[in-house]
Amino acid sequence: MATGTATSPQEDRRGTAARIGRWKATASRLALLPLRLFLGATFVYAAFDKLSDPHYLAGAGDAASFYAQTQAAEAGSPVGRALAPALHAPTFFGLLIAFGELAVGLGTLFGLWGRVAALGGALLSATLWLTVSFHTTPYYLGNDLAYLLAWTPLLLAGTPYLSVDGYLAARAARDRARGLAEDAVRRRALLDGGIAAVALGGAGLLSGSLTAAFGREDLPPAAAAPGPAAPRPAGNAPSVPAAQVPVGGSATVKDPASGDAVYIVQPSAGKYAGLSSVCTHSGCAVNPPKDGRLYCPCHGSTFDAATGAVITGPAVKPLPGYAVTKNGEQLELGPQQAQA
Ligand code: FES
Repeated sequence: MATGTATSPQEDRRGTAARIGRWKATASRLALLPLRLFLGATFVYAAFDKLSDPHYLAGAGDAASFYAQTQAAEAGSPVGRALAPALHAPTFFGLLIAFGELAVGLGTLFGLWGRVAALGGALLSATLWLTVSFHTTPYYLGNDLAYLLAWTPLLLAGTPYLSVDGYLAARAARDRARGLAEDAVRRRALLDGGIAAVALGGAGLLSGSLTAAFGREDLPPAAAAPGPAAPRPAGNAPSVPAAQVPVGGSATVKDPASGDAVYIVQPSAGKYAGLSSVCTHSGCAVNPPKDGRLYCPCHGSTFDAATGAVITGPAVKPLPGYAVTKNGEQLELGPQQAQA
């Protein structure tokens, strides 16, 4: 005999459809969560990466510095003239970008003033696209454009779920339901949002400052010594003392013809070479040699530190090489060699 709790096949189907409907609604609400976590974490990581990088604020003599990267971008960027203030005050603007990324990343991760954070992220990505990766070919290898577009959904939708914004909105709805005046509801939300922003901003500022002050490795003496200030011989060729170029390391000089930074390297004992620091993919400054490679931070190309040959793309052409001659204790940079 059938019991009173038995359900008909039709009711079963309706129950299943309702469950699927609820699951779909939850999935739609949380659809932007993976993108939000990725962008937030990436911007926090990028900020700490800059703040802990000893090259980042090293100045004009270091091809991997913010100054050198900005200078390399200036010539080919459609907004090149607007970069003049950044070249006049590279430390200020370098820190501004790093702490801007940190603020954007934390705001996005915690979902605090999500649209403001997304706007900041979009502006930073647009700036990097117009300066660093504007000439990347094909365009889809330039990641800054992709980041700019990735911020757009968050800019439109904000961060209303699993977030501080969501918590404040839910509490405001409860305040309205219990009859609190609209002005008071808004004041309360604004005040609490402000307190959360100050707390989060303070934590970011403190951790970022500590990283910049204590988290950076010391530069090896050769890399710390700016190329243009290095002692010069009687002739006109740029040069550095051989003692500043350890095996596997480099020193930086300037190509007098182009003004570009050039790494004088010693890939194996007694063998010296000069390699342009300008990436052949899209003109970013490659980092000094490490573990036998020079790495381009813009899109990840790597080059052989002995020959400049491409190890991994997207670059396809090797770094231009220079003859280097040893004159006494000095290493002198010769002219750029013709590409094979
Ligand atoms: S500029 Fe794109 S990899 Fe160097």
